[in-house]
Amino acid sequence: MTGTTPRRQVLMLGAVGAVGVVSAVSGCAVYGAGDEQPPAADPPEGEAGAGDSVVAGTGEVEVGGGLILADRQIVITQPTEGDFRGFSAVCTHQGCTVSAVRDGTIDCACHGSRFSIEDGSVVQAASGLTPESQDPLPEVAVSVEGDQISVTG
Ligand code: FES
Repeated sequence: MTGTTPRRQVLMLGAVGAVGVVSAVSGCAVYGAGDEQPPAADPPEGEAGAGDSVVAGTGEVEVGGGLILADRQIVITQPTEGDFRGFSAVCTHQGCTVSAVRDGTIDCACHGSRFSIEDGSVVQAASGLTPESQDPLPEVAVSVEGDQISVTG
């Protein structure tokens, strides 16, 4: 008698173990091996969609002026009311961060470059250069939703 009980227990444990393995495998098959993916988590409320990043409020950017976001290295301008544009804040001369937006230009204090708030083109080149020999500020894609300005892409 004592010799059969352990064998039964072993067989039963083996069966339980096999069920456990099947469960584990089928569990993996449901979530890991099929085409189905676990549901994606919703983005936190108030955040923009994937790839977008809210950087400023529309009220922070003057009409005819701009806002330098030095930590993000971008400038947001509003040449005319409701028309928001984005540019790199890195001067194309020698890489200083632009320092001011006034009188329709984005200015770099390092060597005097001035760029258009409308298209980033060179209005005044750095000392010793011509506007044709200096690159414009690269454009940064922005979008406006409600009163929030986001950088897209
Ligand atoms: S780095 Fe901006 S003008 Fe020279």
